[in-house]
Amino acid sequence: MAKVLLTGGAGYIGSHTAVEFLEAGIDVVVADNFSNSSPEAIKRVEKITGKSVALYEKDVCDKDATREIFQDHQIDAVVHFAGFKAVGESVAKPIEYYRNNINSALVICELMREFDVKGIVFSSSATVYGTSEKVPFKEDAPTGGCTNPYGWTKFMIEQILSDFAKATPDVSATLLRYFNPVGAHPSGMIGEDPYGIPNNLAPYVCQVAVGRLPMLQVYGADYDTPDGTGVRDFIHVVDLAKGHVAAYQHMKKGVQVYNLGTGHGYSVFDMIKTFERVNGVKIPHKVVDRRPGDVATSYADPSRANQELDWKATLGLDDMCRDAYNWQRKNPNGYRV
Ligand code: WQD
Repeated sequence: MAKVLLTGGAGYIGSHTAVEFLEAGIDVVVADNFSNSSPEAIKRVEKITGKSVALYEKDVCDKDATREIFQDHQIDAVVHFAGFKAVGESVAKPIEYYRNNINSALVICELMREFDVKGIVFSSSATVYGTSEKVPFKEDAPTGGCTNPYGWTKFMIEQILSDFAKATPDVSATLLRYFNPVGAHPSGMIGEDPYGIPNNLAPYVCQVAVGRLPMLQVYGADYDTPDGTGVRDFIHVVDLAKGHVAAYQHMKKGVQVYNLGTGHGYSVFDMIKTFERVNGVKIPHKVVDRRPGDVATSYADPSRANQELDWKATLGLDDMCRDAYNWQRKNPNGYRV
């Protein structure tokens, strides 16, 4: 039976992806060091799907430790999520970000070579398009010009995996460039659970909604956008998760690159208003200065993934806001009880 290793599989996107693989009848093995996640997420994945997951507490920077997973299971592809992901923190701790994110990717490549694993799907980001103003982003747009070390690690790992696939016959590397994942599984059992004060918009809004934080700061209302606030391609995490299953099912040798987005841009004010309307709550907010490094507008041209992967985002902003709040209300403190 096909078996996929999800590194960082207990995290926000990893846990949702585990559910979608299992529901598609594909077995998963999860490796996670729980540096920004909880084993409880995997227990809940098992509850949602009624299937069991082989869970390893491992840091995938540690090759010898991670080798045991490949010895225990016949892995036919890796979906590599594991990595540090806080943009602001990466500016303060560049060495830690480069060491952790690059090292783990190299360890996975080495173990794939050692165990003759033919496929890798990588959790990349629209951040690799840098500050280019040309939207919607197509996969062949120039990359680089990232505004922070986190973004550069995604850029560098894309290069590493591309070179690996080019040099190794039969290896397939699929680079998935995520836009802005939000929302949660409709069961409300798994969702986003950032440690500390959230950096991203949706978890911040959720924590304001449940009274964990007093007020949302809107970073700039003077952008050249319809209402002055930043415009992003918010994508429901369940749609995003399904994109990984589609990528796995359509693997072909060489390097493939796909945007995973909806193709629609919504503003920060759209997000606040939709969240308030759908959930019947108020989100106190005030406009403050722009956040350094933010672009005005970012959204995907997802047509390549639509055509080649036979995948399309089907859930809208209403669904994202409803499901995000459902998760947060049922789990006001995330996985910590
Ligand atoms: C969205 C919009 C903010 C918070 C980042 C990374 C990307 C990816 C996802 C992560 C912007 C505004 C936000 C707040 C606000 N990586 N905002 N108040 O910056 O598009 O993407 O996260 O793991 O690589 O760059 O997402 O959710 O931070 O911001 O007004 O408290 O919301 O200015 O316009 P972003 P975001």
